[in-house]
Amino acid sequence: MKVYIETYGCQMNEYDSRVIASILANDGHGMAHDARTADVVVVNTCSVRERAEARVLGRLRHLRGLMKKEAVLGIAGCVAQRLGDRLLREVPGLSFVVGTEQYWKLPDIIESASAGRIVVAVDAGTGESYDDRPGPDEASLCEFVSVMRGCNNHCSYCIVPYVRGRERSRPTSSIVDEVAKLVGLGAREVTLIGQSVNSFSDEGRGFADLLDAVAGVAGLQRIRFATSHPKDLSIEVIDAVGSIDKVCEHIHLPVQSGSTEVLGTMNRSYTREQYVALTQRIREGIPGVALTTDIIVGFPGETDAQFHETVSLMNEMRFDSAFMFRYSVREGTRAAELADDVPEEVKVARLQTIICLQQRVTSEMNAGLVGSSAEVLVEGPSRKNEELLFGRSRTGKVVVFPGDGGLAGRVVRVEIASASTWALHGVNPVLS
Ligand code: SAH
Ligand code: SF4
Ligand code: F3S
Repeated sequence: MKVYIETYGCQMNEYDSRVIASILANDGHGMAHDARTADVVVVNTCSVRERAEARVLGRLRHLRGLMKKEAVLGIAGCVAQRLGDRLLREVPGLSFVVGTEQYWKLPDIIESASAGRIVVAVDAGTGESYDDRPGPDEASLCEFVSVMRGCNNHCSYCIVPYVRGRERSRPTSSIVDEVAKLVGLGAREVTLIGQSVNSFSDEGRGFADLLDAVAGVAGLQRIRFATSHPKDLSIEVIDAVGSIDKVCEHIHLPVQSGSTEVLGTMNRSYTREQYVALTQRIREGIPGVALTTDIIVGFPGETDAQFHETVSLMNEMRFDSAFMFRYSVREGTRAAELADDVPEEVKVARLQTIICLQQRVTSEMNAGLVGSSAEVLVEGPSRKNEELLFGRSRTGKVVVFPGDGGLAGRVVRVEIASASTWALHGVNPVLS
């Protein structure tokens, strides 16, 4: 059967869609690129914020309308895990609901669903990590590899621990094997992913050891990782990033708020001062490092003064970029018991304030790079202008530059001639 998979949410969901595809390919199914021609449509979903969830429900109903009548529609991922059979009421014509730990069952589920039976498979707590999944049998230049799953942190606003379960790490050997296979298939960069990636642990060996082991894969040029929780980013990891050539100088270190009180209610287990001290150690240990972050505004009880602590932290830190969100209540989380008392219009205004602030800082940081040079892994023609090539610097910034299409897949050094908020503009590429 031809299967069409649509993916929402984080890099872990992108990775899981590849897992789903490989489990189905192993069972003899092919992939479709259009929901209209597919026999099976799977939507892999995110429930981190209410709006993401609402949009996906709308999308499922829309897809049901587009699809062939006899085709089956299923939902996978975090919304599936969270809502289970409640989804059957929300989405008419839905044939199956498959949770984040049940993807091995998909071949059977699809067979049953195609025979007209509705299936809900959302058991959890098995510690599934799809470690021995089939494949991969194709790779892009830049790939993700999951190294740990789940989260034990319980930030009070966050649904992820409820839909992804307890933390568990994959064995180092199997991660290294997967990276080597991907490199054999053409990958040159891997991003090691996990909800709290620095708490990776394999028989006493930590994330710094993992970086070392992955760096040993011949032919691999770059290693990235995400996401780092400030409480787990150790000196060993900072040293490893600073000293292992292949590891890129970029740390995504969500701060969430600049107010120590708000951080306390968020259960983030660090203060503003501890966060600032950590970033100082990072900047000393990793020259030229890019720091990026996530921020939530309008958390329950956030006062104007506390919001302004976030603003002042952003001014002080000068993040290279930030993902910024309005607080969204997630049923079942600890914060859901607090009054969601920041009015929506205040949340919107606060978000707007920090988006403007971050845009200005990003532009200034990028402008500061004009005149320097950057190492770029060339991904191919720029989507906006076919005459330019596109890639990323080691620090994760988009770089566009004129050059020969034959450079795709290669590492070049370019001079930065100008910059905007979104990209650096390079000239004179030379192979490095
Ligand atoms: N540690 C995770 C974070 C996943 S969620 C990881 O591996 O990426 C990504 C971001 O979404 C969080 O850092 C937080 O800023 C935001 N977020 C999570 N729950 C939220 C909520 N209830 N409302 C608004 N933003 C939220
Ligand atoms: Fe959610 Fe916090 Fe875990 Fe990230 S570290 S997934 S924000 S509970
Ligand atoms: Fe969303 Fe699930 Fe990732 S809730 S952010 S897709 S772990």
